[in-house]
Amino acid sequence: MIISKRLETIVGMIESCSVLGDIGCDHAYVSIRALQEKKTGHVIAADVAKGPLETAVRNCREAGVEDSAEFVLSDGLSGLADGCGIECAVIAGMGGILMSRILREAELARFQHLQQLILGPQSDQDLVRKTLLETGIFTIRREKWVFDEGKYYVLLDVRRSLPGTPQEKYSEAQLHYGKHCDPACTDVYLNYLNSRREALYAALESLKKGSPDKNAVKSDGLKKRIELVEEAILQNRREGYDRSFLQE
Ligand SMILES: C[S@@+](CC[C@H](N)C(=O)[O-])C[C@H]1O[C@@H](n2cnc3c(N)ncnc32)[C@H](O)[C@@H]1O
Repeated sequence: MIISKRLETIVGMIESCSVLGDIGCDHAYVSIRALQEKKTGHVIAADVAKGPLETAVRNCREAGVEDSAEFVLSDGLSGLADGCGIECAVIAGMGGILMSRILREAELARFQHLQQLILGPQSDQDLVRKTLLETGIFTIRREKWVFDEGKYYVLLDVRRSLPGTPQEKYSEAQLHYGKHCDPACTDVYLNYLNSRREALYAALESLKKGSPDKNAVKSDGLKKRIELVEEAILQNRREGYDRSFLQE
Protein backbone atom coordinates (compact mmCIF):
# COMPACT_ATOMS: atom_id res chain seq x y z
CA MET A 1 0.00 0.00 0.00
CA ILE A 2 1.52 3.31 -1.07
CA ILE A 3 0.52 6.27 1.06
CA SER A 4 1.34 9.97 0.75
CA LYS A 5 4.37 11.62 2.35
CA ARG A 6 1.98 13.47 4.68
CA LEU A 7 0.40 10.23 5.91
CA GLU A 8 3.82 8.51 6.19
CA THR A 9 4.99 11.41 8.34
CA ILE A 10 1.93 11.11 10.59
CA VAL A 11 2.54 7.39 11.11
CA GLY A 12 6.21 8.11 11.85
CA MET A 13 5.17 10.53 14.59
CA ILE A 14 3.00 8.02 16.47
CA GLU A 15 4.58 6.86 19.73
CA SER A 16 4.12 3.14 20.32
CA CYS A 17 0.76 2.67 21.97
CA SER A 18 -1.77 -0.01 22.84
CA VAL A 19 -4.76 1.77 21.32
CA LEU A 20 -4.73 4.37 18.54
CA GLY A 21 -7.71 6.55 17.63
CA ASP A 22 -7.87 7.49 13.94
CA ILE A 23 -10.46 10.25 14.03
CA GLY A 24 -11.91 11.19 10.64
CA CYS A 25 -10.22 8.02 9.36
CA ASP A 26 -11.76 8.01 5.86
CA HIS A 27 -9.66 5.36 4.01
CA ALA A 28 -8.03 4.29 7.32
CA TYR A 29 -4.56 4.33 5.74
CA VAL A 30 -3.09 5.71 8.98
CA SER A 31 -4.73 2.90 10.97
CA ILE A 32 -3.55 0.23 8.54
CA ARG A 33 0.03 1.46 8.32
CA ALA A 34 0.27 1.96 12.10
CA LEU A 35 -0.89 -1.65 12.65
CA GLN A 36 1.44 -2.99 9.97
CA GLU A 37 4.39 -1.12 11.48
CA LYS A 38 3.38 -2.37 14.94
CA LYS A 39 3.11 1.17 16.26
CA THR A 40 -0.08 0.01 17.93
CA GLY A 41 -1.88 -3.21 18.72
CA HIS A 42 -5.41 -1.92 18.21
CA VAL A 43 -7.07 0.93 16.37
CA ILE A 44 -10.39 2.67 16.75
CA ALA A 45 -11.14 4.05 13.30
CA ALA A 46 -13.84 6.70 13.60
CA ASP A 47 -15.63 8.80 11.03
CA VAL A 48 -18.75 10.95 11.06
CA ALA A 49 -19.97 9.55 7.73
CA LYS A 50 -21.01 6.01 6.83
CA GLY A 51 -19.38 5.95 3.36
CA PRO A 52 -15.82 6.59 4.57
CA LEU A 53 -16.30 4.14 7.44
CA GLU A 54 -17.34 1.45 4.96
CA THR A 55 -14.22 2.21 2.93
CA ALA A 56 -12.17 1.93 6.14
CA VAL A 57 -13.67 -1.51 6.90
CA ARG A 58 -13.00 -2.68 3.33
CA ASN A 59 -9.41 -1.41 3.28
CA CYS A 60 -8.63 -2.93 6.68
CA ARG A 61 -10.07 -6.25 5.53
CA GLU A 62 -8.00 -6.18 2.32
CA ALA A 63 -4.88 -5.35 4.33
CA GLY A 64 -5.64 -8.24 6.70
CA VAL A 65 -5.76 -6.06 9.82
CA GLU A 66 -9.50 -5.88 10.50
CA ASP A 67 -9.24 -8.11 13.58
CA SER A 68 -7.16 -5.39 15.24
CA ALA A 69 -9.55 -2.60 14.33
CA GLU A 70 -12.94 -1.42 15.46
CA PHE A 71 -15.03 1.02 13.49
CA VAL A 72 -17.11 3.72 15.11
CA LEU A 73 -19.53 6.16 13.55
CA SER A 74 -18.69 9.25 15.54
CA ASP A 75 -18.65 13.02 15.40
CA GLY A 76 -15.08 13.66 16.47
CA LEU A 77 -14.32 11.78 19.67
CA SER A 78 -17.85 12.11 21.03
CA GLY A 79 -18.76 8.51 20.09
CA LEU A 80 -15.74 7.02 21.85
CA ALA A 81 -16.32 5.65 25.35
CA ASP A 82 -14.34 7.15 28.24
CA GLY A 83 -12.75 3.79 28.90
CA CYS A 84 -11.81 3.01 25.28
CA GLY A 85 -8.15 3.27 26.24
CA ILE A 86 -6.85 5.44 23.39
CA GLU A 87 -3.29 6.53 24.09
CA CYS A 88 -2.80 8.42 20.84
CA ALA A 89 -5.37 10.14 18.62
CA VAL A 90 -4.69 11.26 15.07
CA ILE A 91 -6.96 13.97 13.69
CA ALA A 92 -5.82 15.06 10.25
CA GLY A 93 -6.95 16.09 6.83
CA MET A 94 -9.65 18.52 7.87
CA GLY A 95 -9.99 22.27 8.33
CA GLY A 96 -8.95 23.97 11.54
CA ILE A 97 -12.41 25.28 12.39
CA LEU A 98 -13.84 21.76 12.39
CA MET A 99 -10.81 20.39 14.23
CA SER A 100 -11.07 23.07 16.85
CA ARG A 101 -14.72 22.23 17.44
CA ILE A 102 -13.85 18.52 17.71
CA LEU A 103 -11.17 19.31 20.30
CA ARG A 104 -13.48 21.56 22.30
CA GLU A 105 -16.32 19.04 22.34
CA ALA A 106 -14.11 16.00 22.97
CA GLU A 107 -13.81 16.59 26.73
CA LEU A 108 -10.25 15.31 26.44
CA ALA A 109 -9.86 14.97 30.20
CA ARG A 110 -12.16 11.93 30.15
CA PHE A 111 -9.61 9.90 28.15
CA GLN A 112 -7.28 9.07 30.99
CA HIS A 113 -4.77 7.14 28.90
CA LEU A 114 -4.50 9.74 26.16
CA GLN A 115 -0.88 10.91 26.01
CA GLN A 116 -0.45 12.07 22.42
CA LEU A 117 -2.48 13.86 19.78
CA ILE A 118 -1.25 14.24 16.23
CA LEU A 119 -3.09 17.06 14.51
CA GLY A 120 -2.95 18.00 10.85
CA PRO A 121 -5.18 21.06 10.40
CA GLN A 122 -5.33 22.16 6.77
CA SER A 123 -6.42 25.72 7.53
CA ASP A 124 -6.95 28.05 10.53
CA GLN A 125 -3.96 26.59 12.36
CA ASP A 126 -4.02 29.53 14.78
CA LEU A 127 -7.43 28.48 16.03
CA VAL A 128 -6.28 24.90 16.59
CA ARG A 129 -3.18 25.99 18.52
CA LYS A 130 -5.29 28.35 20.61
CA THR A 131 -7.92 25.69 21.36
CA LEU A 132 -5.25 23.22 22.40
CA LEU A 133 -3.60 25.66 24.75
CA GLU A 134 -7.00 26.42 26.26
CA THR A 135 -7.49 22.75 27.18
CA GLY A 136 -4.82 23.37 29.84
CA ILE A 137 -3.80 19.70 29.74
CA PHE A 138 -2.01 19.41 26.41
CA THR A 139 0.98 21.18 24.96
CA ILE A 140 2.56 21.29 21.51
CA ARG A 141 5.92 19.54 21.70
CA ARG A 142 7.03 19.99 18.10
CA GLU A 143 5.70 20.69 14.66
CA LYS A 144 6.64 18.93 11.47
CA TRP A 145 6.30 20.56 8.07
CA VAL A 146 5.82 18.50 4.94
CA PHE A 147 5.74 19.53 1.30
CA ASP A 148 3.64 16.94 -0.47
CA GLU A 149 2.22 17.05 -3.99
CA GLY A 150 2.66 20.80 -4.27
CA LYS A 151 1.19 21.72 -0.88
CA TYR A 152 2.58 22.53 2.55
CA TYR A 153 1.22 20.69 5.57
CA VAL A 154 1.84 21.18 9.27
CA LEU A 155 1.57 18.29 11.71
CA LEU A 156 1.43 19.05 15.42
CA ASP A 157 2.85 16.56 17.89
CA VAL A 158 0.85 17.29 21.02
CA ARG A 159 1.55 15.76 24.42
CA ARG A 160 -0.16 15.72 27.77
CA SER A 161 1.38 18.45 29.92
CA LEU A 162 3.24 17.45 33.05
CA PRO A 163 1.12 18.26 36.14
CA GLY A 164 1.84 21.72 37.51
CA THR A 165 3.50 22.95 34.31
CA PRO A 166 2.33 26.49 33.47
CA GLN A 167 0.77 26.77 30.03
CA GLU A 168 3.17 28.08 27.43
CA LYS A 169 2.58 31.58 26.07
CA TYR A 170 2.20 32.12 22.33
CA SER A 171 2.39 35.43 20.48
CA GLU A 172 -0.17 36.03 17.75
CA ALA A 173 2.46 35.23 15.10
CA GLN A 174 3.32 31.99 16.90
CA LEU A 175 -0.35 31.00 17.04
CA HIS A 176 -0.51 31.46 13.27
CA TYR A 177 2.84 30.00 12.29
CA GLY A 178 3.88 27.79 15.19
CA LYS A 179 6.75 27.81 17.59
CA HIS A 180 8.43 24.43 17.79
CA CYS A 181 9.46 23.49 14.29
CA ASP A 182 11.29 20.17 14.20
CA PRO A 183 14.85 21.09 13.11
CA ALA A 184 14.65 18.37 10.44
CA CYS A 185 11.86 20.38 8.77
CA THR A 186 13.42 23.84 8.95
CA ASP A 187 13.95 24.21 5.22
CA VAL A 188 10.37 23.22 4.40
CA TYR A 189 9.07 25.51 7.14
CA LEU A 190 11.04 28.49 5.90
CA ASN A 191 10.01 27.83 2.33
CA TYR A 192 6.42 27.78 3.56
CA LEU A 193 6.79 31.10 5.39
CA ASN A 194 8.44 32.65 2.38
CA SER A 195 5.74 31.42 0.01
CA ARG A 196 3.03 32.74 2.36
CA ARG A 197 4.73 36.12 2.43
CA GLU A 198 4.98 36.21 -1.35
CA ALA A 199 1.33 35.19 -1.76
CA LEU A 200 0.18 37.86 0.69
CA TYR A 201 2.24 40.59 -0.99
CA ALA A 202 0.87 39.51 -4.38
CA ALA A 203 -2.70 39.69 -3.04
CA LEU A 204 -2.02 43.16 -1.65
CA GLU A 205 -0.59 44.33 -4.96
CA SER A 206 -3.63 43.10 -6.86
CA LEU A 207 -5.96 44.83 -4.37
CA LYS A 208 -4.13 48.11 -4.99
CA LYS A 209 -5.17 47.90 -8.64
CA GLY A 210 -8.87 47.88 -7.66
CA SER A 211 -10.97 50.55 -5.97
CA PRO A 212 -9.03 51.85 -2.91
CA ASP A 213 -12.20 52.66 -0.91
CA LYS A 214 -13.87 49.31 -1.50
CA ASN A 215 -10.70 47.39 -0.72
CA ALA A 216 -9.54 49.31 2.35
CA VAL A 217 -10.75 46.72 4.88
CA LYS A 218 -9.37 43.78 2.90
CA SER A 219 -6.11 45.63 2.46
CA ASP A 220 -5.80 46.24 6.23
CA GLY A 221 -6.44 42.55 6.86
CA LEU A 222 -3.71 41.58 4.40
CA LYS A 223 -1.25 44.02 5.94
CA LYS A 224 -1.89 42.50 9.36
CA ARG A 225 -1.29 39.01 7.97
CA ILE A 226 1.92 40.20 6.30
CA GLU A 227 3.09 41.61 9.64
CA LEU A 228 2.51 38.24 11.29
CA VAL A 229 4.38 36.26 8.66
CA GLU A 230 7.25 38.78 8.70
CA GLU A 231 7.41 38.39 12.48
CA ALA A 232 7.54 34.60 12.15
CA ILE A 233 10.38 34.89 9.62
CA LEU A 234 12.28 37.28 11.88
CA GLN A 235 11.69 35.09 14.92
CA ASN A 236 13.28 32.18 13.17
CA ARG A 237 16.10 34.36 11.92
CA ARG A 238 16.87 35.20 15.55
CA GLU A 239 16.91 31.50 16.33
CA GLY A 240 19.87 31.18 14.00
CA TYR A 241 18.71 29.02 11.12
CA ASP A 242 20.38 29.50 7.78
CA ARG A 243 17.90 31.52 5.77
CA SER A 244 20.12 33.23 3.27
CA PHE A 245 17.53 32.41 0.62
CA LEU A 246 15.16 34.89 2.29
CA GLN A 247 17.45 37.84 1.70
CA GLU A 248 16.21 40.13 -1.01
C1 LIG B 1 -10.13 14.42 3.90
S1 LIG B 1 -10.56 13.12 4.95
C2 LIG B 1 -9.05 12.91 5.85
C3 LIG B 1 -8.73 11.46 6.03
C4 LIG B 1 -7.44 11.20 6.80
N1 LIG B 1 -7.61 11.52 8.20
C5 LIG B 1 -6.29 11.96 6.21
O1 LIG B 1 -5.67 12.77 6.92
O2 LIG B 1 -5.98 11.73 5.03
C6 LIG B 1 -11.61 13.86 6.17
C7 LIG B 1 -12.47 12.81 6.86
O3 LIG B 1 -12.96 13.41 8.06
C8 LIG B 1 -14.30 13.00 8.21
N2 LIG B 1 -14.96 13.94 9.11
C9 LIG B 1 -15.44 15.19 8.82
N3 LIG B 1 -16.01 15.73 9.91
C10 LIG B 1 -15.86 14.83 10.91
C11 LIG B 1 -16.25 14.80 12.27
N4 LIG B 1 -16.91 15.83 12.82
N5 LIG B 1 -15.95 13.71 13.01
C12 LIG B 1 -15.30 12.67 12.45
N6 LIG B 1 -14.93 12.62 11.16
C13 LIG B 1 -15.19 13.69 10.40
C14 LIG B 1 -14.85 12.99 6.79
O4 LIG B 1 -16.01 12.19 6.69
C15 LIG B 1 -13.66 12.42 6.02
O5 LIG B 1 -13.73 11.03 5.91
